[in-house]
Amino acid sequence: MQDALGGVQTVLVLGGGSDLGLATARRLVDDRATTVVLAGRDPGAMAEGADSLRRAGARRVEVASFDALDRGSHGAFVERCWAEYGDIDLVLVAFGVLGDQDVAEHDADAALAIIDANFTGAVSVLIPLIDRMRAQGHGTVVVLSSVAGERARRSNFVYGSSKAGLDAFCQGMGDALVGTGVRMMIVRPGFVHSKMTEGLDPAPLATTPEAVADAIVEGLAKGREIVWVPAALRGVMSGLRHVPRPVFRRLPV
Ligand SMILES: NC(=O)c1ccc[n+]([C@@H]2O[C@H](COP(=O)([O-])OP(=O)(O)OC[C@H]3O[C@@H](n4cnc5c(N)ncnc54)[C@H](OP(=O)(O)O)[C@@H]3O)[C@@H](O)[C@H]2O)c1
Repeated sequence: MQDALGGVQTVLVLGGGSDLGLATARRLVDDRATTVVLAGRDPGAMAEGADSLRRAGARRVEVASFDALDRGSHGAFVERCWAEYGDIDLVLVAFGVLGDQDVAEHDADAALAIIDANFTGAVSVLIPLIDRMRAQGHGTVVVLSSVAGERARRSNFVYGSSKAGLDAFCQGMGDALVGTGVRMMIVRPGFVHSKMTEGLDPAPLATTPEAVADAIVEGLAKGREIVWVPAALRGVMSGLRHVPRPVFRRLPV
């Protein structure tokens, strides 16, 4: 349950080893969240992140097994979370893979591995999870989309298409949730320095996991439906969306 001041108490992070997910969980603990569940493919690898949340002041931190690709397990995973941790106020969907564009555009299995993790896997877990939240009558789902989904780019259109699918699904789900007590917030970061982007040349307006976490917490407080990080990307992308394709494909984005 949320606390008396409407603050988030129990947080479930799907992709519990994610740099953006952990930074956001830490920020929520600073804001009085008491229980955090980190769910990911390798619970052992999340132990250090869990310790950092305990040091930050979380009263209860748990790690749980979750694989976005194991779609058959998602319904039971959601039921287990509610049975073990009680009502969950906020779910952060932070898992994802960037993949290798050069390989994926020639190899259907490699492309589908990206789509399955970022889009199909997310839809598969979001449906039972949101149904469970509707039954509890409150809660927020925060989904890490990306500017890459706003307009497909030559350099990463397989990843971009997976995020475009996820983003569109979440926009519609957000509309479906109006009046249910559950809300959806879509986050569209640009380039963030994290494990995912290690070794890549930073794009303009590159930012940090901590800045994403701050923007998420601010978006939650203001009741935003969509959050761009940094905020300037909203204007940049609304301009880029209308640039004619032959020009767009020549831009260094
Ligand atoms: N970094 C950026 O520039 C950027 C920009 C926009 C959006 N995003 C999005 O933000 C989210 C977090 O990214 P990040 O930068 O924090 O990257 P990250 O540190 O690499 O975290 C990604 C997480 O996803 C997990 N994951 C991958 N496949 C999974 C699966 N099948 N099941 C469960 N978990 C899985 C990884 O777990 P393992 O440890 O098991 O691999 C890892 O913990 C992603 O959705 C990403 O697409 C990132």
